[in-house]
Amino acid sequence: MSRRRFEDQIVVVSGGASGVGKAIALKASAEGAHVAIFDILDKEGRETANLIRSAGGNAQFYKTDVRQQSQVRESVRSTIDSFHSIDIVFNHAGTVIVKPFLETTTKDWNSLMDTNVTSMVHVCQATIPHMISRGKGSIVNTCSISGLTASALEAAYCVSKGACIQLTRAIAVEFRDRNIRCNGVCPGFIRTPHGMLEVESLVAQGQTFGDEDIAKMQGRICEPNEVADAALFLASDEASFINGELLVIDNAALATT
Ligand SMILES: NC(=O)c1ccc[n+]([C@@H]2O[C@H](COP(=O)([O-])OP(=O)(O)OC[C@H]3O[C@@H](n4cnc5c(N)ncnc54)[C@H](O)[C@@H]3O)[C@@H](O)[C@H]2O)c1
Repeated sequence: MSRRRFEDQIVVVSGGASGVGKAIALKASAEGAHVAIFDILDKEGRETANLIRSAGGNAQFYKTDVRQQSQVRESVRSTIDSFHSIDIVFNHAGTVIVKPFLETTTKDWNSLMDTNVTSMVHVCQATIPHMISRGKGSIVNTCSISGLTASALEAAYCVSKGACIQLTRAIAVEFRDRNIRCNGVCPGFIRTPHGMLEVESLVAQGQTFGDEDIAKMQGRICEPNEVADAALFLASDEASFINGELLVIDNAALATT
């Protein structure tokens, strides 16, 4: 790459230990970013940071359960201590519950909202003040096509991703005057542990969901790098007038409905 879009930018990636978050961390570093990874997975988080360092980049892993506001605040404090600022945040940590709606307990519901939505609130509330003091910032939230369409057995997940979409827009509107942009990516099925868990859970619940069903829906499964590239574009100055927007990454799955 001849042009490095993130030279000396400080980038936080929640969920950066695995899947798309890992791809974002590696790609941001390859384009000059210093990367802080917040994730609950200790071994995988350290491995991602080590991968970046062994390629000559700069990364720190902070073991963080993003559901816990105190842990997020502590990891943001450590990031500022090490890197002195925060320019870009990727809110990628998240999970899925596949269950019939009538069997979804209040505990299931609250747990998924905590992991997928409240976690984003925690990270945004802890990092936006630093962006305000820098006079600029960019946030990219991982949403999903499940926030735009509904599917059976995924009521809690669909609602959580719909909330991520509205949080994205609300932050964009509230902080536009502080030169902070907030956008979202809405991927279809991606080849990650999360994507595979979702497919396995749907099959376990009696749905037919094989490769041919994914092919019918979106041509083929999406690869983590394909979502990472879109997220990096939205985070970059190339998207300087794109704010409160959602980029659907689904190979025309929604367009066919
Ligand atoms: N894989 C898909 O098909 C798909 C499609 C659309 C959207 N998404 C979204 O992508 C995210 C899942 O990422 P992925 O597909 O790269 O899968 P993944 O499972 O590889 O990555 C998810 C990462 O989030 C981390 N995480 C989960 N809970 C956490 C917590 N409480 N604190 C800190 N870290 C936590 C995990 O440890 C993991 O590293 C979710 O937000 C999901 O809604 C996934």
